[in-house]
Amino acid sequence: MDKRFNLCLIGFGNASRAFCKILLEHYESVKKMTGHDVRVTAIATRSKGSLVDKQGINLENALLCIEKNEKIHETELLDLNTLSLIEQSGADALIEMSALSIKDGQPAISYIEKAFDLGMHVITANKGPIAWRYKALNKMAEDKNLQFLYETTVMDGTPVFNLVKYTLPGCQVKSFKGILNSTTNFVIEEMEKGNDYESAIKQAQLEGFAEADPSMDIDGWDAAAKTTALANVLMGGDLTPIDIERTGIGHITETDVSNALKDDKKIKLICEGYFEYGQVIGRVYPQLVERSDIFATIDATSSLVSINTDLMGEILIIEKNPEIQQTGYGIYSDLLTMLGNLNK
Ligand SMILES: NC(=O)c1ccc[n+]([C@@H]2O[C@H](COP(=O)([O-])OP(=O)(O)OC[C@H]3O[C@@H](n4cnc5c(N)ncnc54)[C@H](OP(=O)(O)O)[C@@H]3O)[C@@H](O)[C@H]2O)c1
Repeated sequence: MDKRFNLCLIGFGNASRAFCKILLEHYESVKKMTGHDVRVTAIATRSKGSLVDKQGINLENALLCIEKNEKIHETELLDLNTLSLIEQSGADALIEMSALSIKDGQPAISYIEKAFDLGMHVITANKGPIAWRYKALNKMAEDKNLQFLYETTVMDGTPVFNLVKYTLPGCQVKSFKGILNSTTNFVIEEMEKGNDYESAIKQAQLEGFAEADPSMDIDGWDAAAKTTALANVLMGGDLTPIDIERTGIGHITETDVSNALKDDKKIKLICEGYFEYGQVIGRVYPQLVERSDIFATIDATSSLVSINTDLMGEILIIEKNPEIQQTGYGIYSDLLTMLGNLNK
């Protein structure tokens, strides 16, 4: 007899829907693999309505509603705020996929705290809580013997945290260096092609990965949040994004970019974490890299992180031109890890 495992989804945007599509396609194989009958029993959104159905929401219908630009009601639309919905969901796990608030990680942090209070396991794709409250949330989960998984928060479904946790036992991460922000990478690349800064931003917005207000990317905040997450999880840091020494790319001119190319170099926005006098330090800054350097080959939406360890030297991971499915997969892989751990 398969055990029921109920999910409460916070957010039904691009990431959440990509996850739901994978879950729908693999519903039977998840049952077979894990012995769990996984159902989504609650969905919260900000403006598209909220649903609770303890028998399991019809996900196909919910996805269709969004495609038709309708609210996700089936019979009646619930007027619940997200915290009340979490309480009413009676779910076994919460998946936090609401919009990122880079400046404080809220209200996602309060949703995760509520879930732990109610004895629910948590997966987050939202990096805000990891960047702002990783240590405290992780401790809450440990104290209550609950799982807290967050692979999608940096490089989507590409294993970064899991790589270190599961495949490098006994290795200490001494430092890391990465290119982790698509918008800045894309904008500099467009400037390399001769486009000016404004049209490069417009193009990034047209391609759908720069926000209407791109300043969070351009000023290095998104990169700082990812740097914080890596520094805290992989190196035991206790940083928040404001502790990161941060320089964005707003001051970089077309002349800077073309001068770099003339010198056979490229400008890349680098995220870095390292130890200094025993303290974990995080930095985000534009750097000139040789064209022959692997960092120079990371194009537009691709990303790279190089992890330097004591026993395994340097390991490089590249995510090549990700689509939204990779984000959905990151959440799905955390779900499978969670169910696998429950079976141990
Ligand atoms: N997209 C990616 O490739 C990707 C990759 C890695 C991580 N992530 C992270 O995953 C999260 C979701 O990203 P996304 O691309 O799916 O964003 P999105 O398309 O903007 O969707 C966000 C969803 O969250 C809902 N929401 C916002 N505030 C809420 C609240 N207080 N309570 C309940 N629901 C709320 C929104 O509702 P409304 O639509 O009604 O506003 C929407 O359904 C973000 O934190 C993002 O940083 C995304």
